Amino acid sequence: MFVRTAGERDLETIRALLAETWHATYDAIYGVEGVTAISEHWHSVTWLKQLLRQPRSEFIVADTGAELAGVAHAVMKEDELVEVTELDVRPSMQGRGVGGLLLAELEDSFPECRLMRLEVEEKNQRARDFYRANGFVEFGRRPATQWVDAMIVSMEKRLG
Ligand SMILES: CC(C)(COP(=O)(O)OP(=O)(O)OC[C@H]1O[C@@H](n2cnc3c(N)ncnc32)[C@H](O)[C@@H]1OP(=O)(O)O)[C@@H](O)C(=O)NCCC(=O)NCCS
Repeated sequence: MFVRTAGERDLETIRALLAETWHATYDAIYGVEGVTAISEHWHSVTWLKQLLRQPRSEFIVADTGAELAGVAHAVMKEDELVEVTELDVRPSMQGRGVGGLLLAELEDSFPECRLMRLEVEEKNQRARDFYRANGFVEFGRRPATQWVDAMIVSMEKRLG
């Protein structure tokens, strides 16, 4: 398993990986149609291409050599603040250290940053536990704007 920068030729595979992982994770929370609607926009190759070109960002994949196991994206928001916008491991590859590998690589990619932040769906207990085990603490929560009954938890970790 190795972690490398994502390229344009990965985008179709990443699109499929994100759709698969989001359905496995969020269908029970948002419903199949809700997740499909999210995926059609936020996981489209057109949108992923924009992420790839975003200044002050890192877009990385975990590659087994045979397939992509996971994907992650983070962007510098302010001088010392970096925000993780995606971290997804294919369901069949979860629980083997891939998420930890991707997160560590993101942390190392922004040596000038002192703080890493992210948002996670309140009902996504597995992800919240994963982030807590990796040094993140919860510091706030807000209702998700477009989803009834959904809450988003904010988490952060001091770097360096
Ligand atoms: C949350 C998520 C990113 C975590 O990634 P992951 O690859 O499953 O996480 P890891 O394998 O690195 O760590 C999880 C567990 O595996 C264990 N682990 C770590 N390295 C391991 C290894 N080499 N072999 C076996 N297990 C290992 C960890 O100790 C941890 O166990 P614990 O939770 O009992 O402490 C992943 O589950 C995921 O993509 N979920 C769906 C999408 C999602 O929720 N994304 C986050 C949205 S904000």
